[in-house]
Amino acid sequence: MINSTTVEKFRDLPTPFYYYDLDVLHATCVKVKEESERSGFSIHYAVKANANPRILGIIASYGFGADCVSYNEIARAMECGFSPSTIVFAGVGKTDREIESALKARISCFNCESIAEMEVIDSIAARLKTKAVVALRINPYIEAHTHKYITTAIADSKFGISAWELKDVLDNLSSMSNITLEGIHFHVGSQITRMSVFRSLCSRVNELQEWFTSQNIDLKTINLGGGLGIDYNCPEKMPEFGEYFELVRELVRIRPGQRIHFEPGRSIVAQCGSLITKVLYIKKGSNTTFAVVDAGMTDLIRPALYQAHHEIENLTSGGQTGKYDVVGPICESSDTFAKFIELPETRRGDILAIRSAGAYGEIMASRYNLRDLPGAVFSDEL
Ligand code: LLP
Repeated sequence: MINSTTVEKFRDLPTPFYYYDLDVLHATCVKVKEESERSGFSIHYAVKANANPRILGIIASYGFGADCVSYNEIARAMECGFSPSTIVFAGVGKTDREIESALKARISCFNCESIAEMEVIDSIAARLKTKAVVALRINPYIEAHTHKYITTAIADSKFGISAWELKDVLDNLSSMSNITLEGIHFHVGSQITRMSVFRSLCSRVNELQEWFTSQNIDLKTINLGGGLGIDYNCPEKMPEFGEYFELVRELVRIRPGQRIHFEPGRSIVAQCGSLITKVLYIKKGSNTTFAVVDAGMTDLIRPALYQAHHEIENLTSGGQTGKYDVVGPICESSDTFAKFIELPETRRGDILAIRSAGAYGEIMASRYNLRDLPGAVFSDEL
């Protein structure tokens, strides 16, 4: 909660910064843990959503694993308390150096996306005299009904292995003596709000399981990736973890001894973070009033890149409402956080909160225009 005492403290801090409400993060982790344990599912937090060390430390303390997409993420996850035996390494373009470092760190599994990648992993593992455990990322060809940039399982996606290629993959794997196939992996897309998408994924998983059985392969793990969306219109709302896990428990024909894995990112961290920014200038446009703020697309790129909606609150004004475009200082027209939104009368010096920004916010910040990176402030420090 951002209450009036918190706002008073914000006044003394240099803006823009990310404010993380740790009570919200803890409450979300408790919920994910309860709901996943009820179904016997394993959680690997997708580090790409937010790799802030304090955030990672809290998530690790709940006993979750980590889903990483670079060796730097693996190293950060280990520093923050994730055990290597709970770390999976995904990504369509792992470098030789990253593969070698991950093998030496003894991570639990590589989520592999091509035969070419598996050949490299096999040869590096042979050189290191070790074995690599892998899961095959399969493209299930499912429309995620989300923004096209975060849709990852359609015919022209660069991700995953197509079902028609699987026989070839298994033939190749039989000659790779330093690779052990453990399971299959999917990730359909991100910010998925229609449960029907996950329903389709479950049916596809069942079909593919049948096929693997017909090839005499027992899969120890089925990893359904991430993707559960949040309600950007309601920053206080907890994502629908219960409904999501229950759907999978009901629909996937889980075999005895088999583990189901998930890789949620956004749903764990989005609602605990807000980007706090100060209004620099109020400026009249021909059709609108601009509130020019000191945060820009360099601090939170989601509105510019995905036309994403984030609720914006003026924390320091309760005046009569008017319509505003909230824009940043960067020299690009896409540097706009919201258009024609209702805010209480807004003046220079007011503090705004751009809500639901804990996921893909701070981590995607850049130094374009040679701007400083945004700071991070935690609720227990104020
Ligand atoms: N697993 C894999 C293989 C992924 O590629 C991703 C996200 C996740 C898990 C976590 O998905 P989540 O639960 O967070 O939806 N920057 C974009 C989102 C990119 C997501 C990339 N992959 C945004 O701001 O919306």
